[in-house]
Formats: sequence, structure tokens, C-alpha cells
Amino acid sequence: MSQFDRIIDRSGTRAIKLESRERLFGDPDVIPLWVADMDFAAPPAVVKAIKDRTEHPIFGYTTRGQAFLDAISSWLKRRYEWDVDQSWIEFSPGVVPNLGLAVQALTKQGEGVIIQPPVYPPFFGVVRDFDRKVVENPLVNAEEGYKVDFDHFEKLCADPSNTLFILCHPHNPVGRVWTPEELRRMGEICIKHGVSIVSDEIHCDLTLFGNRHRPMATISPEIADITVTCMAPSKTFNLAGFSTSYMIASNKELLNKCREQVMAYHLHMGNVFGSIALEAAYNESEDWLENLKKYLEGNINLVIETVEKEMPEVKVRRPEATYLLWMDFSAWNLKQSDLKTLLYGKARVGLNDGVSFGKEGRGFMRMNVASPRSIIEKAMQNIVEVRSNELIKLNP
Ligand SMILES: Cc1ncc(COP(=O)(O)O)c(C=O)c1O
Repeated sequence: MSQFDRIIDRSGTRAIKLESRERLFGDPDVIPLWVADMDFAAPPAVVKAIKDRTEHPIFGYTTRGQAFLDAISSWLKRRYEWDVDQSWIEFSPGVVPNLGLAVQALTKQGEGVIIQPPVYPPFFGVVRDFDRKVVENPLVNAEEGYKVDFDHFEKLCADPSNTLFILCHPHNPVGRVWTPEELRRMGEICIKHGVSIVSDEIHCDLTLFGNRHRPMATISPEIADITVTCMAPSKTFNLAGFSTSYMIASNKELLNKCREQVMAYHLHMGNVFGSIALEAAYNESEDWLENLKKYLEGNINLVIETVEKEMPEVKVRRPEATYLLWMDFSAWNLKQSDLKTLLYGKARVGLNDGVSFGKEGRGFMRMNVASPRSIIEKAMQNIVEVRSNELIKLNP
């Protein structure tokens, strides 16, 4: 039995994944396979480090100190062969807050920010919330997988009112790990037209099936010079509740502009537990991560095999990274509201509505497979049953 097979009851922990079920799915008991955290215990080294710290009863203002920077730079060197000077790193209290403050730091009101839907919903929010314009370069859903529309991307970059590109790498929800060639093409177009890049690489440690992640900023010094990279241990080690992340920019001007926003809102303190968790994760939990990735691959294979065998009209590709599956139910020919009724109300599985990732998500749902295998099996069984019992009634 794998450590990840253990079902841990999260009730009573105020987990959003559980608490928001009634509001989102109209049912407090759906199997929650939505928001991107995992139903697995954090690595033992993290749990121990946090326990040890709670032995001291004073939780006053605390510095992150050298250990925080050492853990990050060593992790990036070991995992990505990326030599990051520690002066390029700044703390941020979460990657989404980081995106929002980068939008404010690097663009002016009314300017356009390019994103590539279908994409993680806050990519729309962090642009609109600060009165910037969402400029969409939709990904192309090709037979062999999702691709960037480079011609349209270049057209958008050539418009001087579009000044920033937020890259999602690996891409949530489609699971692509962009290749060095794709990254170079995007980066060079941005350089040519004076567009800065914020690269959200929060899922970078979760590459699967032999895929490798190459940070955008390592493609060339010129691309590094226009890029702010956002990373965190939160997806990798299931630490989202600690609100601890960081940004990296070798270009001092870009980093300072973002740093000024962090300082202006007095966010630089962070919280006393976040850096302890990050250090224990990066310094002591690499084996745990390798085991996790194998387990996630098993869950993904299970879903894909079930789909192929039991409902081959549903399309789902093996993601190159992330524990998120982007499932195309459009062959069921249902209105989105009926698809939700079927999956939430009848199958009683809580998935993310594809439309929340952009209009390209119509007919799609996102499934989070970071749960014990028996739970994923049960969810798939429910969906398969509903397909045979109910689909015909909704779609005669
Ligand atoms: C692409 C992406 N960026 C950011 C986040 C959230 O980051 P944080 O919790 O650090 O704000 C997520 C969470 O799912 C994500 O998928």
C-alpha cells in the first residue's frame, strides 16, 4: 500500500475543497475533485518542522533569514540547473497575489495584458481587477495537443497598448509543459515588441511521464531580462495554506518594481510558518516528491484507461505536468448547465466548470486527481454509471 492510498478525513480543518461544496455544487457531499490542493499529507519533514516550531509559544514578527534563500537557490540549481543569484529573489505571499502586484508594477491602467485561454481563472481577474484589459490569445486544440497560435500572439504583441504577457508554464488546465522551442518563440516575439513576461511556474515541479520543465528565464539572457518568474512549494508539497511563494528576476529594474508593490502593501513579512515549511520541503522532501509523482501518474492512467474503455467519446489527454485533467465532454452534446447537473447532481462528483477557464472551456470539466486512488475509482465509477443511466434522458 502506498502512503498516498491513505484516506485522511479533512472535515473540521476548514478545507475550502470541502467547505465550498454546497455553494458550488449544490450538494455538501459531492466527491471533491476540484480546487488544486491534494488530499495527501504533506511530507513528514514539513510536518515535523512545523510541529517543532509550535513547541516555542511566541509567534511574533519573524525574519525569513538566509536559510529561505539558500533553500530556494539550491532547489532551483538541483532541479533545473538554474544558477539563481539570491539577489534576484523576492518573497511573495502567494502566486496569485504576485500576479496581481506584477500587473500593477509593470503596466499602466488601460493597457492590455495577454493571456492564453483556456487558463487558470485568476489570470482574468488579476488583469481586470486593476483596470487593465484582458487580451486573449486562445490556445489551439490540435489533434496532437494544445499549441500556441504564434501568428496571433505576434499580432497582439505588436500592438503597443499590450505591454505584458502572463505565461502559464506548465499550463493549467491543459497540462502542457512548453518546450524550449515554444518558449524561445514566445520570448523572442515579446523581446521584439517590448512586451514583458510574468511566467507563472507554480506547477513546474510536477512534471510527469518523463517530461522536463525548463524555466522561461533560462532560455536566453535576453529572455531572462524581460521576465519575472513566479514559483512556490505550495502545489508540489501541498502547502497552499501557508501563503508562501517567491518571484525571481535577474533584471533589477523589473524586480524592484515588483518589490516596491510588496513593500507598499507591507506584505514582505509573510508568516512565521511559511518559510519553515518551504525549507523542510525543498531541503528534505525530494524523495517524497518522486513517490508522489509516480502515484499521480497511476491515478492519471486509471482515469484515462476508464475513459477509453467505458466512455471513449470523452476526450482526455495525458497531462505532461500537474495533477489536473482537462476532460472534454462535448461529445455528450449537452448545455453546460446540463453537463453540471449530470456530473454534480447525479454522479455527485465536484469538478471545475470548464467555462471558468474561458469560453474555450465549454463542454469541458477539470478533474483534480490528487486524491487516494480508491476515491478516484469511485468518482469514475459514478460518472460511468450516470453516463449509461442518465445521459440519454438529457440528450435524447
Ligand atoms: C497556474 C496557477 N497559478 C497560481 C495558483 C495559486 O497560487 P497561490 O495559491 O500561491 O496564490 C494556482 C492554483 O491552482 C495555479 O494553478
